[in-house]
Amino acid sequence: MKDLESLVARTLAEVAASADLAALDAVRVAVLGKKGTVTELLKGLGKLPTAERRSAGADINRAKEKLGAAIEARRAQFESAALERELASAAIDVTLPGRGQSVGGLHPVTRTRLRIEAIFRRAGFSIAEGPEVEDDFHNFEALNIPANHPARAMHDTFYLGDGRLLRTHTSPVQIRAMKLQGVPIRVIAPGPVYRRDSDVTHSPMFHQVEGLVLDEHVSLANLKAVLAGFAEQFFEKPRGLRFRASYFPFTEPSAEVDIQCVLCDGAGCRVCKQTGWLEICGCGMVHPNVLTACGVDASRWQGYAFGMGIERLAMLRYAVTDLRLFFENDLRFLAQFSRG
Ligand code: PHE
Repeated sequence: MKDLESLVARTLAEVAASADLAALDAVRVAVLGKKGTVTELLKGLGKLPTAERRSAGADINRAKEKLGAAIEARRAQFESAALERELASAAIDVTLPGRGQSVGGLHPVTRTRLRIEAIFRRAGFSIAEGPEVEDDFHNFEALNIPANHPARAMHDTFYLGDGRLLRTHTSPVQIRAMKLQGVPIRVIAPGPVYRRDSDVTHSPMFHQVEGLVLDEHVSLANLKAVLAGFAEQFFEKPRGLRFRASYFPFTEPSAEVDIQCVLCDGAGCRVCKQTGWLEICGCGMVHPNVLTACGVDASRWQGYAFGMGIERLAMLRYAVTDLRLFFENDLRFLAQFSRG
């Protein structure tokens, strides 16, 4: 028993003196391991006389527990010290602001298209769509632009070589909608169009919205009212409207519509080239030839069509002076349109 006491004292001293986990483990193996001193003592119990066996067993087990607990406590010390060291060296500054996630936003042209759609939806229009790769019939022929018609020259068309082409305007959608839905009809057709044209105010791909209304008693006055209502809602204040006589093969009479400049309120500025007016759309009463080409009885049905450029409206709304900014995808530009 004396030996046991001194073994315990010696081992406790070794545990306290061990410098790291490896040293501590060596102490544990030497005492409590399979061939450790305490383990050997337990194994030797059988050789003791029966009278001593019980109390010796109890003593050895107590010593074993005491040493085990001391080793565990020392191990916990090492582990928490290691954790402390790790935390100290990681040097996380918890006062720094988080990195967060940046919030994306819709492209300004998309925002403008959705805004236009919402305004016309409220006015009872539904939305029609058509293919961007068109055929000659829908893009020209049915719109009263036969082959060799001088108006074709205005369109700077991309031809695909197999007789098809990239639509030069959204007007072919009015042809498809008339054939598909018949009359009466009240639709807008927004979407991309293509022309071989590129400078500060032209892009080879841009977006238009076509409007088409046909019924038995639709007049130019209705067209004026709808466009005036649209301009007021789009620009958030009433705008003066001016109709200039113009020419489109698919409308008769035809007009180009100017609104009072949204930047100078008509006083004259750089954007409106000092005129006080901005052109925003082409329009007119649908030509009877177009109705006939779509199987609509031109003696009974009539109505108007209009077409406007979405980028142009976006430029006016956001005071953007170079159309190309919309297509360069510079995040410094685009991020200004996202609502964070
Ligand atoms: N489609 C014409 C264009 O792209 C615009 C327009 C549409 C004019 C409808 C009149 C009526 O130039």
